[in-house]
Amino acid sequence: MKLLHTLADLHSALRGFRHPAVVPTMGNLHAGHIALVKAAKPLGDVTLATVFVNRLQFGPKEDFATYPRTLEADCAQLEAAGCDIVFAPLETELYPEPQSFLIQPPAELANILEGEFRPGFFTGVATIVMKLLSCTQARTAVFGKKDYQQLMVIRQMVKQFSMPIDIVGLDTLRADDGLALSSRNGYLSASERQQAVLLSQTLGALANAIRGGRQDYAALEAQAMASLSAAGWAPDYVVARRRVDLQAPQAGDALVVLAAAKLGTTRLIDNLEV
Ligand code: PAF
Repeated sequence: MKLLHTLADLHSALRGFRHPAVVPTMGNLHAGHIALVKAAKPLGDVTLATVFVNRLQFGPKEDFATYPRTLEADCAQLEAAGCDIVFAPLETELYPEPQSFLIQPPAELANILEGEFRPGFFTGVATIVMKLLSCTQARTAVFGKKDYQQLMVIRQMVKQFSMPIDIVGLDTLRADDGLALSSRNGYLSASERQQAVLLSQTLGALANAIRGGRQDYAALEAQAMASLSAAGWAPDYVVARRRVDLQAPQAGDALVVLAAAKLGTTRLIDNLEV
């Protein structure tokens, strides 16, 4: 496995390959990321992972400075998973000058849910993903469904810019108790880690109520928010939305339930397709 830090080295390593399959990450990898790499492997003639903590997608009060940088451990896991190339650029390589060209996703998708609580987040994500797909010459890119709205933004971007890239979404990997795997789970204390299962349980109960025929979404969402608050969480949202565009459900739509909530100082997100 090659570990590369510069665009020049990346471009020469990619010479001769026709179908790079790419897994963009911010590092601090867990089994969920490794599943993405394993899924990418048969989909291309060379498998790449990118490791880059993207300043553009963090708000001024968010955890950019403290986000764990664990490149050595990440590389050990990536090598064991059969990754061929890790591209881990310095900030000066990807942002040698302030990034003044930005990809701005449409407001109806980018300003709801995560975008409402993290203004500018999806502009930061779309801009870096555009750059990473471009410099890795990706023909396939694999993302986790845990970041459901992110995956939707990326799919729409690739479609609207006619980029010749297959975007593959992989189901969320969960711990035995149901907690969605996430790099930010590492911020939880031991007792918070025990309580963290409540987020997926709350979504599970909401999804089950809908599967059982309930359509009073506002009441169900309020009940789910209240049960998280009662357990000491600070929920940002718990909602049922259409899978196709994350707007409010109409009769007959395929749905997804999504939640974001803070437990102590850690903000967790999760979702379940109904
Ligand atoms: O999901 C992530 O880890 C990041 O948002 C991504 C897609 C690597 C862009 O920085």
